Amino acid sequence: MLIDTFGRTATDLRVSLTDRCNLRCTYCMPEEGLQWLAKPDLLTDDEIVRLVRIAVTQLGITEVRFTGGEPLLRPGLVGIVERCAQLEPRPRMSLTTNGIGLKRTAKALKAAGLDRVNVSLDTLRPDVFKTLTRRDRHKDVLEGLEAARDAGLTPVKVNTVLMPGLNDDEAPDLLAWAVENDYELRFIEQMPLDAQHGWKRDGMITAGDILESLRTRFELTEEGSTERGSAPAERWIVDGGPHRVGVIASVTRPFCSACDRTRLTADGQVRTCLFATEETDLRGALRAAPEDSTDGSDEAIARIWKLAMWGKKAGSGLDDPSFLQPERPMSAIGG
Ligand code: 5AD
Ligand code: SF4
Repeated sequence: MLIDTFGRTATDLRVSLTDRCNLRCTYCMPEEGLQWLAKPDLLTDDEIVRLVRIAVTQLGITEVRFTGGEPLLRPGLVGIVERCAQLEPRPRMSLTTNGIGLKRTAKALKAAGLDRVNVSLDTLRPDVFKTLTRRDRHKDVLEGLEAARDAGLTPVKVNTVLMPGLNDDEAPDLLAWAVENDYELRFIEQMPLDAQHGWKRDGMITAGDILESLRTRFELTEEGSTERGSAPAERWIVDGGPHRVGVIASVTRPFCSACDRTRLTADGQVRTCLFATEETDLRGALRAAPEDSTDGSDEAIARIWKLAMWGKKAGSGLDDPSFLQPERPMSAIGG
């Protein structure tokens, strides 16, 4: 089990499959000039499957989320999912994606054993999409979403970040659209993870702002807090149900005390938190000794991972004025 000194157990593994992306969302990446990881530094498909195997067979991981960058850009994705679906016990698997390319791969991903997708979409307006992501791909995302729903990668969740002056007036429209299309919408407060370090606490749209805006058009009833568990999204029932909307108050109401996550970057580093300032190198350990040796065995790798998680800090520190943004941007850490 992956336990830490604050009594939390990590059962949810997020694996970044690449740091690359075909969008340039302003809250995540700079327009240009971001250095990509070098190919030899990336975990291979075999290494990823092996680490997931160690996680589910030795460390109690039950949930695996593939992320990026944009995970659909990883050529071996379907194969990785397929191999992870053979593991005993079989983990639940989902994908956090910007949706571009899902139209082509949704069926294959479902057949390979993927359970669900989370698609990032911040606006219903193509022009705003272009400003926000610096790419003209709005239509591809909408098509990807439909393909995911039609392939049964459900519930399809949509992640939305509201940015002041750009899309902060769209919350009710987005919710109406999500309800109509059977997507589960979740708003995420913008976190300081942009590569250009431009985040400001003052201007940010808070969970409170979002709820206020939604309530101008919808009746929202809070779900019992017992149902939240370790899920960071607080959920509201929309107009009596059955649809729900989530709001993830990552900044104004951090959920660190219930955190059940461990992360693996595309270059094989364990991170205990998005905001961790330290990483533990599993790739080096994997490559230093053969699998059938004492040092390279599954047990040895698991031990390093456990030790890394034991050192997990109490919180992100986001609510502390002395907060320091992690050096690596979101795209390199994995959403
Ligand atoms: N703050 C909040 N959410 C972010 N995401 C990316 N960068 C940020 C940020 N700075 C979101 C993406 C994606 C999810 C993995 O995280 O929109 O949906
Ligand atoms: Fe790409 Fe996601 Fe970052 Fe946008 S938030 S640039 S889609 S990795």
